[in-house]
Amino acid sequence: MPYTVPKLTDFSTAPLESAAQELRSALGDEWRSLWIEAIEVRRGLGLGHTADWQSFRNRWIGRKQGILTQLNEDWLKRAPADRKRDVGRLVNELKSEVEDQVDAADGFVNKIVKNFPGDKLATLEDAARNIKIHDLKTKLAELLGGPPTERLDITLPGIRRPIGAEHPVIKTMNEIVGVFRNLGYSVEEGPEIETDYYNFEALNFPPNHPARDTQDTLFIAGQESKPQRDRLLLRTHTSPVQIRTMQKMKPPVRVVCPGKVHRNDALDATHSPIFHQVEGLAVDTNINFCDLKGTLDHAMKALFGSSVKTRFYPSFFPFTEPSADVQISCIFCDGKGVRDGAPCRNCKASGWIELLGCGMVDPNVYGFVDYDASKVSGFAFGMGVERIAILKYGVDDIQLFFQGDVRFLEQFA
Ligand code: PHE
Repeated sequence: MPYTVPKLTDFSTAPLESAAQELRSALGDEWRSLWIEAIEVRRGLGLGHTADWQSFRNRWIGRKQGILTQLNEDWLKRAPADRKRDVGRLVNELKSEVEDQVDAADGFVNKIVKNFPGDKLATLEDAARNIKIHDLKTKLAELLGGPPTERLDITLPGIRRPIGAEHPVIKTMNEIVGVFRNLGYSVEEGPEIETDYYNFEALNFPPNHPARDTQDTLFIAGQESKPQRDRLLLRTHTSPVQIRTMQKMKPPVRVVCPGKVHRNDALDATHSPIFHQVEGLAVDTNINFCDLKGTLDHAMKALFGSSVKTRFYPSFFPFTEPSADVQISCIFCDGKGVRDGAPCRNCKASGWIELLGCGMVDPNVYGFVDYDASKVSGFAFGMGVERIAILKYGVDDIQLFFQGDVRFLEQFA
């Protein structure tokens, strides 16, 4: 007698469970016979054996008369209100088991009937008759040398990839840019592979000038045939973006230029051949050193707290005149040079930490970008992002930023 869905009168747990068991074992039996039929067909005993997985499919999941449809009609719809929840859950469970089994059936019938090796048929039949229905699929996979069906199970949970967080260097860079955006600066970017002209010459570093030695440059090989100014290198600072900006806009100019730079430096706790800078440039009429001081003093207070003091110390850059290094009062010892009774190590007991370079744009630079040096004036500055991040977050080794260790990075999330 083929299985039919029983009409239930009692919907309490026990009779429901036993009806479900009955259905499961009927499904298993029919699945097993289909399997054996397929083996017979493969053996050439076609007559009377059809291994008809399509009617197996219709019988169980056919829309009109299928057993699953009947489960809905006879069990779920007829269940009393207070049992609907449980009956619904069970019916859903049975549905997915049946669908699973039916899906597996068309795959395996095809495989067995079409190309199952004749010498393994006996083993297969033995498995079909004796193995528990649950293990049958695995066994079949083993014998067929692959899963019975090669379908993608879209019901499997996906792989969850953690979203991640902003890298501390990028975070700091955005923060610096944010401070200047609030002052009305806009953002400009330039290429990381630059020409000698933009990285040096237009910034008033003449060819062979010793000031070039301060920036250990990585040159792209094999360019000897080009004129020096066209030779490519990895930019050693973001200052070339000053030139590119002035070439494309007329004063007033107020820009910050964040980006990656490269120098041929050996790795240590404070040096990395790759690091980041934020460059700033303001050019207008009547811009003077007080504007520079006020701007950078404001920026340092915005980044490190309002109690920080700044100090401008004479320095040299070919593209600014006068030039200065900006120092901030040591944030570890509050500028005292002494911490916990001992000389402060962060500022070498000086009370000051050197942070960035700046100056008034050298009039020679205006000559390279067709600005009238007699009419305009301006200032520029450049700061190292890692250096600022190291101070802000108390990181003791710049390498940590580039090693990609999640245990380090997640602390900034
Ligand atoms: N480009 C300089 C450096 O990398 C810093 C700087 C920028 C100095 C702008 C003055 C003005 O050392």
